[in-house]
Amino acid sequence: MTHEVDKSDSHLNKVKEFHDADALRYRTDRYRSDTCEGLAYVTRRAIVLSMASTDPGRVLDVGCGPGILTRDLQQKGHEVYSADLSIEMIREARCAASAAAGSPSSHFVVSDASKICISTHRMDMVLSIGLMCYVKDHRGALSEIRRVLRPGGIAVIQINNIRWPGLYRAFVPIYRRLKTLIGAKRYDGLDFDFNFSSRKKFLDDLVESGFQVLDIEHYDFRVPFVDILLPRLSVRMGKLMFRGRHRRLCRWFSHGLLIKVRK
Ligand SMILES: C[S@@+](CC[C@H](N)C(=O)[O-])C[C@H]1O[C@@H](n2cnc3c(N)ncnc32)[C@H](O)[C@@H]1O
Repeated sequence: MTHEVDKSDSHLNKVKEFHDADALRYRTDRYRSDTCEGLAYVTRRAIVLSMASTDPGRVLDVGCGPGILTRDLQQKGHEVYSADLSIEMIREARCAASAAAGSPSSHFVVSDASKICISTHRMDMVLSIGLMCYVKDHRGALSEIRRVLRPGGIAVIQINNIRWPGLYRAFVPIYRRLKTLIGAKRYDGLDFDFNFSSRKKFLDDLVESGFQVLDIEHYDFRVPFVDILLPRLSVRMGKLMFRGRHRRLCRWFSHGLLIKVRK
């Protein structure tokens, strides 16, 4: 099912174009354990699957990208609905799903997270992983997640672990520029604003939207600039800090949060 993206919304169109161009390389570029950034994706996937409900049910993976979690969930016996703004990401997700032989049916929707074409109370669980930083109005997306969830349904929502948005906003361009200069990564097409809301604001908005927070996990332990200047050391540190992620000191350095909530 495809819903046209509103052509007058320039933010949405830029985000869509960026991800259309990123779709083919996303899986191999991001999910790898030989870089500290890659480790963040690998460990995030493991935590999401441990937080996800084990009883097979209907699951919406919103902002599904190329369907890495979609496929994992299918293999666990869930009936998965995958939604994404990017048609190229949905194409990749569909290929990944058809490669998962013998899994229950899956459904694909090209749709904006703030207007998902799925009926009310239909889902047992919703995953929103790697999505919120691209969404201008995260409260709109939260209310849509709540709408499609059945009463008592579970959502796992990922956000960036931001304490001071102003500092983050100033720091991120410097970090990206340095990474591009040493040839570690290119950031072409990122000419849109990210949602750099603080974790406090986000957690407050979750509760105001009618969710009960059940659990919070920390991941992505990149010590600023060490991951660029000493990448191998940074991977070792990342693994150590991930193991110690329940300690306060490690949590301080985490860049990502996974929040499990109930409607
Ligand atoms: C970083 S990827 C995450 C992919 C996947 N969830 C994962 O964990 O690997 C973010 C995805 O969110 C999608 N996205 C961004 N803004 C969106 C929106 N407003 N509605 C739906 N999907 C969106 C992008 O197209 C992209 O595929």
